[in-house]
Amino acid sequence: MALDPAFLEELRARTPIAAVIGRRTRLIRSGRNWKACCPFHGEKTPSFYVYDDHYHCFGCGAHGDVITFVMQSEGRGFPEVVAELAAEAGLEVPRASPRQRETEQRVRDLAEVLELVQAAWVRRLHAPEGRGGLAYLRGRGLSDETIAGFGLGWSGDGRGALLEELRPNGVTPELLARAGLMRVDEEGRPKGELFFNRVTFPIRDRKGMLVSFGGRILGDGQPKYLNGPETELFSKRRVLFGMDRARSALRMARPRGAPPVELLVVEGYMDVIALHQAGFPGAVAPLGTALTPEQMEALWGMAPAPILCFDGDGAGQRAAVKAAETALPLLSMDRTVRFCTLPEGEDPDSLLRARGAGAVAALVEGARPLSAVLFELLTQGVRDPGPEQRAALRRRLTDAAAMIADKGLASEYRSTLVDRFFETYRRRPGGPRREGAARSTVAPVAVAPFDALAATEERMRILTAILLRHPGLLSEVEDAYCRLDLPPALGRVRAALMEAAADHAAMDAGALAAWLEDVGLGEERAAVLAARPLPMALSAPDDLMAVDVAQEWWHFYALMNVRQFGEDLRADTERMCSGTLDERAWGSLRPRLLAWEALRRGEISLDEG
Ligand code: UTP
Ligand code: MN
Repeated sequence: MALDPAFLEELRARTPIAAVIGRRTRLIRSGRNWKACCPFHGEKTPSFYVYDDHYHCFGCGAHGDVITFVMQSEGRGFPEVVAELAAEAGLEVPRASPRQRETEQRVRDLAEVLELVQAAWVRRLHAPEGRGGLAYLRGRGLSDETIAGFGLGWSGDGRGALLEELRPNGVTPELLARAGLMRVDEEGRPKGELFFNRVTFPIRDRKGMLVSFGGRILGDGQPKYLNGPETELFSKRRVLFGMDRARSALRMARPRGAPPVELLVVEGYMDVIALHQAGFPGAVAPLGTALTPEQMEALWGMAPAPILCFDGDGAGQRAAVKAAETALPLLSMDRTVRFCTLPEGEDPDSLLRARGAGAVAALVEGARPLSAVLFELLTQGVRDPGPEQRAALRRRLTDAAAMIADKGLASEYRSTLVDRFFETYRRRPGGPRREGAARSTVAPVAVAPFDALAATEERMRILTAILLRHPGLLSEVEDAYCRLDLPPALGRVRAALMEAAADHAAMDAGALAAWLEDVGLGEERAAVLAARPLPMALSAPDDLMAVDVAQEWWHFYALMNVRQFGEDLRADTERMCSGTLDERAWGSLRPRLLAWEALRRGEISLDEG
């Protein structure tokens, strides 16, 4: 029975997830949240995190809310678990209205019709009439096990035999039409089967309920694929082919050390099936359309960072841009997408056949984050832009970031994209840098130091300048800032800055300027701010949000000694995991991690100081 979403919302809100999970697994405090050794896969160190309204295991990918937790951990059904949790929470499970019950009955009838058709078509595939279809599927490399597993069938020739066969079961033309298997004329009267002379692909929703079919013609011919129409059961916008199997593969506990199952979004039916057969059970495909927001949501219900695979050609690029546009407004800190690009002229199915599972595994391994792909897609073909093109390009990047509804995340994207813009189009005369080398390595690549000392002083000046413009940042960075061995003039400014901060808790940039003037450092201040080049956070002070500024600061700080920065960060991350990180380091961890990520991805050139 479909329950009122508002009721489920209420139930979740009234059921403390940590308490429920804590009954089965020992929870350890982790900042505002909890962590534990994952109850769904064997592990010795905790990678299972419990948040306000959901849990996520970074080890095996288990993910869900309080209801799914009880279902998964106790192997029980949804209605049963809801009833139990509702009783505990003192809520009454709403009963279905007569109207609701009627709809449910209709849906059950249609589902039954579809299952009858499915059984008939599978039978036909193995009957003499299906010989051609079966040979076709085998000829495309599918094993009998795969053919059976996906329930592939043969539609027959469409001359009415299906109806005759199913009539004794109470199947009428009207029912077939409502199930999306018969065409209807203008008056809505059924007239002829939709699928004939095709191999058939049952389409199931995420829970495995049969909702429609796809069909492929043997060999060439138009249309190559046919998909069932929208019905009471089937909404093309919500369903992805293979999602039931992907969902259970993603939920299944994996042995220790086994690679994670990745959720892969590909283009076609055959790609999904070939991928599953080759050991990629997380493959799904939309049904001949671009990904919809509903499908994105469905994907995130299964995994936090699905990988979208696109062709390397122009059409593939346009599809990738479209998918990015659909995803951007919906992103959050634990919902993103990654991308991988197929070699030109190949789809996953043909790639598997030509180069084997290893080639696909390598592609999946190399999946790249949205921010990096977005930058490339938006700057494609731009070589050596003049001022106007630069302005237009920057606008395009900031507009893309602005599509993200989550404010904090939007500003992180903005600074990542803008940062990369400056690195790509400003610092290096002669056009964008070649990508590749820097990106593929985890450890930063040292580029020959141009003038290490001058570069270091330059960075110290920039760090000081950012603080002059954004004194509020000082409390977060003061430990690191005070460790720097500044040249005398900067040292004097720093001393005054620290003093001002100690005396006046919340001083803005204007008050700080006046203070420096008072203590006779007006000229030093002007010198720090006057020199060029200035980073983004300074050239457009009102344009960026505070969180960008922090990341920007850490970015330049990291450049002073990349290796040390990485080591400190790693140590702090470990402290965080063991719960011994101090308050101040907590606040700076995120901007530091983001700055580090950007460096690591090679979004700027590294000349270690
Ligand atoms: P493709 O034309 O890329 O085919 O369609 P494919 O998946 O590689 O198919 P094979 O390998 O030739 O069998 C990709 C998807 O687009 C939809 C289908 O969902 C198909 O899987 N499509 C394609 C249609 O809906 N209708 C068509 O006529 C063609
Ligand atoms: Mn293909």
